[in-house]
Parts: sequence; C-alpha cells; structure tokens
Amino acid sequence: MRAARIHQFGPPEVIVVEDVTRPVPAAGELLVRVVAAGVGPWDALIREGKSKVSPPPRLTLGSDLAGAVEAAGPEVTEFKKGDVVYGVTNPQFCGACAEYAITRAKMVARKPHGLSEIEAASIPVVAVTAWQMLFEYAHAEPGQRVMILGAAGNVGAYAVQLAANAALHVTAIVSAKDMDYVRKLGAESVVDSERGEFEDSVPAVDIVIDTVGGETRQRSYAALKAGGTLASVVSTDFAPPRADVRSVFFYVDVSNERLKIISELFDQGKLLPQVGTVLPLEEVRMAHRMLAGAPHERGKIVLDLARSD
Ligand SMILES: NC(=O)c1ccc[n+]([C@@H]2O[C@H](COP(=O)([O-])OP(=O)(O)OC[C@H]3O[C@@H](n4cnc5c(N)ncnc54)[C@H](OP(=O)(O)O)[C@@H]3O)[C@@H](O)[C@H]2O)c1
Repeated sequence: MRAARIHQFGPPEVIVVEDVTRPVPAAGELLVRVVAAGVGPWDALIREGKSKVSPPPRLTLGSDLAGAVEAAGPEVTEFKKGDVVYGVTNPQFCGACAEYAITRAKMVARKPHGLSEIEAASIPVVAVTAWQMLFEYAHAEPGQRVMILGAAGNVGAYAVQLAANAALHVTAIVSAKDMDYVRKLGAESVVDSERGEFEDSVPAVDIVIDTVGGETRQRSYAALKAGGTLASVVSTDFAPPRADVRSVFFYVDVSNERLKIISELFDQGKLLPQVGTVLPLEEVRMAHRMLAGAPHERGKIVLDLARSD
C-alpha cells in the first residue's frame, strides 16, 4: 500500500510516498481503508522533529482520517468490517496518510451521516480540541464572554461555532481578511488583530481561547476578568503575567465519546465542516508547504486517498 512517510526529520522535501506492507490490527485496534486524511500544523511539528509525543522516523505521517473498517482486531466490539468511521490513529498522531491505517478503536466513531469522508477527515483533532478547550478546561457556561485568538483558523472556527451554540458571547480576534467569515460563524464582536491594542477595545471576558500564542496571547491577559481562564493549545512555555487568572495547556484527547458529541452537533446542523484545499496523496509535500504558508484555501487541508493525479 502507498503511504506518506519520513525517513528523517526535515522540510517538506523529506516526505516520500512509498510502498509499505499493509499493517495488521492488534487487540483494540482497527484496520481502516483510508478515504481521506487531514493535514494540520502538528504534522509539520512531527516532520520537523519538534513534537513531544511522536516517535522518531521512520514513520507514516498523519492522524485525522475517515474511511471504512477493513478488519477489527481482537477485543473490538463496537465496530465491524464495512463501518464508515472518522477519528484519529493514536496518541502519537501518526499513521493516517496511507491507503490503510491502524487506529485505536477508542479514538474513532461512526462518520456523521450527512458528511462526505473528505469533510469528516477535516474534523477530529480541531473540533475535539475546540470542544475540550471550551467545556473541559475553561468550563464555559451560557452567558459568559469568551475571546478567541485565531478564530478563523481550523481550531478557532470550531471554537466560535461551539461557543455560539452554547449561548456564549464570542469576541473573535482575527486578521482583517477574516472578519466577515467569523461573523458568519457566530462571533458577536470581531477585532482586527493587526490593529494596535486589541485587548483594550473589547469588554472583559471570562475565558480566552488561545490558538495563536506569542505576543497575542500575552496581550490577551489584559482582557481577562479576575478568576477567568486562558486555555491554550499552542505551547507550554509561557509565563502568565497575572496571578489572579488560571492558565491551562493540554494535548487533545480524541475519543469515541467526544467524537459522538461532535457527530450529534453535525447531525443537528449546529456545526459546519470547514474544508479548505483538497489534494491527492502524491501532493502531500505541497500540503506541508501550505502549512508553512504557501497559498491555499481557508479551512482544513485534506488528502483525498481515492484520487490520484
Ligand atoms: N495541543 C493540542 O493538542 C493541539 C491540537 C490542535 C491544534 N494545536 C495547535 O493549535 C494551533 C492552531 O491550530 P489550527 O489547526 O487551528 O491552525 P490554523 O488553521 O493554521 O489556524 C491558525 C489561525 O491563527 C491565525 N493567526 C495567526 N496569528 C494571529 C494573530 N496574531 N492574531 C489572530 N489570528 C492569528 C491564522 O491567521 P492567518 O492565516 O491570517 O495567519 C489562522 O487563522 C497550532 O499551533 C496547532 O499546532 C494544538
């Protein structure tokens, strides 16, 4: 089977699409015939050797996927051959960009009914991250105010939709080109991040959702109410400038239970998938160049395993 792999850390050019042996599922695992695989910033960190959770090369890239169960390993009771699932491969975020992938059965769920596999593969890591930030780490409640840094990004767009659905008041911090986009997703107020002192022009918030880091995150503390929470998924190495607020960092835990909650919201029409550029597996290097800034459509980059150009 074909797989997008690295034999050493480095730039997108280290990625090779090569033939490897089809894996066999062990206990608690599924072999999935991959129809589509998502590509996200953490894949670039793995390729560059900067991930704290992935193994050393040789490895197959990719974690988000959607496809059909080809075989279930021992002790798997919830899925059988032919079920169409979406989710992630494993806690090391590796192995999805291939014609067949092994997933932990506990890290996938049945694909939402109304979505294609391309749409479904765009969802797991970013939607579950946004869910966990808001409701598990920041304990968001209806009526609270939340500021979302990077609200037009893939995690941010779900954070806006999930927060608006839960009757939170959303302030989105985005660059000027994305202001209309996040209003349509449900943001009540929108601030241009490139305008100076954005933190002074917004009402005080209960929660900051950080998908950007750096100076933007440090400045956002000025808008946080005493007792408020800043939830970040960007980097652990930051020093909160205030002692009267809570700061949390975490790695996403994509689970069957959380995916079922997300699926239900899609089934109810309360979430919309945000698919950007779709490429065949052979263009995986281009997908990684896009992560580094090469032009691409807004939304999630997805590899279409059924297409070969
Ligand atoms: N810890 C975890 O488990 C976990 C899970 C998921 C994601 N993450 C991390 O979370 C981050 C976001 O992921 P993603 O998939 O959402 O990335 P993404 O789709 O690239 O989104 C990032 C967004 O931030 C915007 N942005 C950059 N600088 C900004 C600024 N100063 N002010 C406002 N917006 C700004 C970007 O806008 P432009 O396009 O205009 O630059 C883009 O819309 C990444 O670092 C990723 O690795 C971590």
